[in-house]
Amino acid sequence: MPNRILVALDTTETAQAVALCKTLDGLVGGVKLGLEFVSANGPDGVRAVTDTGQPLFLDLKFHDIPNTVAAAVRAVVPLQPAILNVHASGGTAMMEAARDAAQETAREHGMSVPMTIAVTVLTSLDDADLASVGQRNPAEAQAVRLADLAKDAGLDGVVCSPKEILAIRKACGPDFKLIVPGIRPLWSATGDQKRFSSPASAVKDGADYLVIGRPITAADDPAGAAQRIAEELEGL
Ligand code: C5P
Repeated sequence: MPNRILVALDTTETAQAVALCKTLDGLVGGVKLGLEFVSANGPDGVRAVTDTGQPLFLDLKFHDIPNTVAAAVRAVVPLQPAILNVHASGGTAMMEAARDAAQETAREHGMSVPMTIAVTVLTSLDDADLASVGQRNPAEAQAVRLADLAKDAGLDGVVCSPKEILAIRKACGPDFKLIVPGIRPLWSATGDQKRFSSPASAVKDGADYLVIGRPITAADDPAGAAQRIAEELEGL
């Protein structure tokens, strides 16, 4: 990957996603497709995006019984994502099943093994939301606990908010990958993100990859915006 930037292609339009991948060729580390895009366009849409050569973070957040999650992972690995993810709250057996399925399927197809990453606590949930579903831990403590569980299950890292980077890095060590959304360059609009960090401060705190959507995708000049962020990260 040329750099740490993963661009969130939050669209249902394959043509728009493919055009952005081409515009950003060589300027970013990869792109992220999520439930919105895959529900609309299925595996053919995903292939159209990976055919551009951009490394893919397939953000489908699997969460089901271990057997079903393993089967879903086996189904998506041939799409050659560089990164895929599951919910840590699905538990240890489910995460181990996902990891094993990713490794086995990649080996069967002679492909490189995708990073298997966990989602901890969705940042749309606050402490009161967690209490309402019976989780008494505050959100940040719960995120660290789930990150620990993901590490013990042999996963490669977690998605976390900028404000969780330091605590999870401390708990899970230097090799555990931290993928961080909620990023806003100082010169871009914040949109609906409330707890955000600048790219440089997230990387200084310990982020490995930055998920960045609208500051790049909604810019008048997406290539210029990506380049400007990449330059801000050079040497960090
Ligand atoms: O446009 P923006 O940079 O806000 O996009 C961020 C991307 O990261 C979106 O795909 C969003 O769903 C995702 N995300 C997030 N915050 C989280 C988890 C994921 O913004 N806590």
